[in-house]
Amino acid sequence: MTTASMPDFPTGFRWGVSTSAYQIEGAVDADGRGPSIWDTFAHSPGRIADGSTGDVACDHYHRYREDVALLAGLGVSAYRFSIAWPRVQPTGAGAADSAGLDFYERLVDELLGHGVDPVATLFHWDLPQALEDAGGWLNRDTAARFAEYADLVAARLGDRVKLWITLNEPFVHMSLGHGMGVHAPGRMLLFDAFPVAHHQLLGHGLAVSALRARSSSPVAIANNYSPVRLAGDTDADRAAGAAYDALHNRLFTDPLLGLGYPEEPGFDPGVVRDGDLDVIAAPIDVLGVNYYNPTGIRAAEEGSPLPFEIVPLDGYPRTAFDWPVVPDGLRDLLVGLRDTYGDRLPPIQVTESGCAYDDVPDADGRVDDPERIAYLDGHLRAVREAIDAGVDVTGYFVWSLLDNWEWAEGFTKRFGLVHVDYATQTRTPKSSYAWFRDAVVRP
Ligand code: FCB
Repeated sequence: MTTASMPDFPTGFRWGVSTSAYQIEGAVDADGRGPSIWDTFAHSPGRIADGSTGDVACDHYHRYREDVALLAGLGVSAYRFSIAWPRVQPTGAGAADSAGLDFYERLVDELLGHGVDPVATLFHWDLPQALEDAGGWLNRDTAARFAEYADLVAARLGDRVKLWITLNEPFVHMSLGHGMGVHAPGRMLLFDAFPVAHHQLLGHGLAVSALRARSSSPVAIANNYSPVRLAGDTDADRAAGAAYDALHNRLFTDPLLGLGYPEEPGFDPGVVRDGDLDVIAAPIDVLGVNYYNPTGIRAAEEGSPLPFEIVPLDGYPRTAFDWPVVPDGLRDLLVGLRDTYGDRLPPIQVTESGCAYDDVPDADGRVDDPERIAYLDGHLRAVREAIDAGVDVTGYFVWSLLDNWEWAEGFTKRFGLVHVDYATQTRTPKSSYAWFRDAVVRP
C-alpha cells in the first residue's frame, strides 16, 4: 500500500511502540514472580473470550533479545514496556525480588545497547494478588504500597529509564475492572468504583515523589481518552455528553492538573482526605495520551442507572474489535486538551494508538495489513494537524510492537506491527512494520 508522503514532524519527535508485561511476557512462575489479579482472572472459567491465559503469551521473558532486535530494525527511538509489580514484589510489599528486577535490567541494557530509549510503565493493571486480597485499589493502603514499589524500581533503574509512566489508563482499570467486571479483578461496583480512581491517583502522586527522589528522568501518566460525539442535540443529550466527558476524560485529568475532581457525575468525595489533591497534582513532565476512538453518547432512558447512553458511531470503517476508525477524533482530542487545560497542560506524548485486524500470513508467509497502514497514516496526519494548531505533541507510540494477549479478548485480537504465531512463537514483521520504518521513522 502506498500513501502520500508523511508530513514532517518536529526534530527530536519521539517515535516508539508500546507493549505491557502481562500481555507479552509469559513466564508467570519464573524467578519468584508472584501471582497477579490477571493470573487469577484469566484462570477463572468464562472470563476470557477464547479461554486462554497470559501464562506463555509471546514468551517475551525468554525472547526479549529477539524482540529488541525487531525494535532496532524498526528504527524507533523509544520502547514503552511495563514492569510487572509481582516480579518486583511477589506479594506487593517488602524487599525487592532481585531476580525479577534483573530481568528488567537486562531488557533496559539491551535497549540502550541498540540506541532505544526505555520508557517504563509501572502499573499496567497486573496488581499483585496479595494486595487485591487486602482490598486492592479500594484500599487506600495500596497507594502507599505503589509508591514503595516505584522506589524499588527507581533505585535499580533510575539512571537508565528515560521516561517513567506511573499508571496506564486508570479509567479503564476502574471502569472495566471494578465498575463492570469485564477485566480483572472482576468487580461490578458501577459508580461505587470511585475509590479506585482516587486511590490510583493518590498512588500516582506518591510515586511521582518517589521517582523524583531517585531519578532525574521525566515522569508521566498514560490516560485513555475518548472524545464525545453527541448522537442527538437536545439539552438532555448535551448534559449526557458532559457527564460522560467528566467520567471518561476529566475524572483523572482535572485533579492531575490541579483542578480537583469534576462535579458532574456526583462522585463520592468520602474517600478524599485533606491534602490528597495536592499530592495528586504533583507536577508531571509529560501527559501520556492513549487514543483508540470517540464515543457516541445520547441522553439515557428514564430509570437508567447511568446518566448517559453509549451508542454506536455509524458511518466509519471498523477494526476487528468493531471500534470505529476516526482519525479526526485524535486531532480533536489533542486540540481539546489544550483548549481545556491551557497553560496547565504539559507536553503530550501519544502513548498508545493502534488497531486490531485479522492478520493472517499468506502462502509465502507474508502478512499484508493495508488497513493498519491506512489507520496509522490517518492518525499520524491527525497528530500533525494538532501540532499545526499549536498543541505541543512530542511523541507517538504505536500499540503494539507484537500481536499479544488482549485481556478479555485473549488471543483473538491482533494489534501488532509484527505477527506472532503463538504455536511456534515465530515473529513475522507485517507490511505495516516496513511502512512505519520507511515512511515514518526514517522517511
Ligand atoms: C489499551 C490498553 C492496552 C491494549 C490496548 C488495545 O486500553 O492499555 O493494554 O489492550 O488498549
